[in-house]
Amino acid sequence: MKNKKPTLIAESFHEDPAVIEAKRILLERLSEHQARVDGVRPPRGELVEQYDETIREFSKARAGNLYFPYLGSGMGNGSLVELADGSVKYDFISGIGVHHFGHSHPKLIEAGIDAALSDTVMQGNLQQNLGSVEFSRLLLDAASDIGEGFDHCFLTSTGVMAGENALKIAFQKKAPASRVLAFEHCFAGRTIAFSQITDKAAYREGVPLTLPVDYVPFDAETALERLNEHIARYPGQHAAMIFELVQGEGGFHVGAEEWFRPLMERCREANIAVLVDEVQTFSRTPSLFATRHFNLGDLVDIIWIGKSSQVCATLFREDWAPRPGLLSQTFTASSGAIAAGCVILRELQTGGFFGEDGRIARWHQWLVERLEKLDSVSGPFGIGAMVAFTPCGGDPARVTALVKRLFEKGVMCFVAGSHPMRIRFLLPIGGLTDAQLEAAWEIVEETIREET
Ligand SMILES: Cc1ncc(COP(=O)(O)O)c(C=O)c1O
Repeated sequence: MKNKKPTLIAESFHEDPAVIEAKRILLERLSEHQARVDGVRPPRGELVEQYDETIREFSKARAGNLYFPYLGSGMGNGSLVELADGSVKYDFISGIGVHHFGHSHPKLIEAGIDAALSDTVMQGNLQQNLGSVEFSRLLLDAASDIGEGFDHCFLTSTGVMAGENALKIAFQKKAPASRVLAFEHCFAGRTIAFSQITDKAAYREGVPLTLPVDYVPFDAETALERLNEHIARYPGQHAAMIFELVQGEGGFHVGAEEWFRPLMERCREANIAVLVDEVQTFSRTPSLFATRHFNLGDLVDIIWIGKSSQVCATLFREDWAPRPGLLSQTFTASSGAIAAGCVILRELQTGGFFGEDGRIARWHQWLVERLEKLDSVSGPFGIGAMVAFTPCGGDPARVTALVKRLFEKGVMCFVAGSHPMRIRFLLPIGGLTDAQLEAAWEIVEETIREET
């Protein structure tokens, strides 16, 4: 007779009928209460004064105003979210891509309860639980879709740290090459090194130069020529080129395989690592990875993801494994983020989101058709769950005013790019319904007609 696998105390706790029943009751009550978050609502009069005061207090603590007067109550229903002033809004920017499964998603709440019942709030590099293994396994399984060999990943808690880890791996392998190539107007994050790479003057104002970066236009016609010029000017000195296949913060500019491929091939020929920043694109194009969507897996060395996955990760092939000591940190992520990340990775695989007939492609097409009918805006731009348009001729002051007006009317979106400035949506695909999309669009359309 085979020995029965010994049951861990943790397992017996989670399988305790009383614990299971307590969770069932919590989730049942959640469903009842969240059903009341059923459409846009204005702020509640009696809460407004206190709310405004809290916003002012927080702005003072941060030494800077919030972009929106947004403080959530902690309750939502798909793409709808309740704010602490009692108002309810459609969230079509999802925390700039973080709340990809909307608000109060029951499966994420359930994962959060399990995480809250585990021994520690945070998981660390030195000591972590089985969830980190599960997350890595799910991610590497998914990455087999990109192409052969993405068999390794290092988890971390922010997108920029996943990018730093990618760049450190590339520098170590290509040492002593110390220059980096990136696209003009790219966004890569805000550490001191990545503020140099991110191509926006205001984000590096006063920050000492730490990294020499050479820029290539995000442009099919001129990119290769400029890349060749940089390589000729600094032979053997570039360690890596960072590709953002769809520029997110830069304005939802979508690249294409036919001009990315020659650039990547040229990098390989010149011994330059090919790095892809998928922090914003992961799970938003019609394929899980944009690298797969653009069919570039054979030419890419390192990829990193973040935002929607809750846990961030750097993926690399066997021959890019860093030497011991290069990558570490105190936190991997919170127990809740890891548990939620596992749920999200599973749901993304089974939820019918991807492919030509997937929900992402369908919702994209639906919005595109409506935006095309609006004479007062140009576009639409973007791909998949990333949709943008240019109102008011792209004038930054007027576009920002329109974003704030949409907020007041009950739809949250955000700007992208600067000249012209666009309005963008990052659709919360895992929490969205057709009815919510239609209802939110009515507000958007009406507001654009009124304000432009
Ligand atoms: C393309 C891209 N890379 C990196 C980052 C940085 O991620 P994080 O803010 O999690 O550090 C972002 C964030 O917006 C991004 O859009």
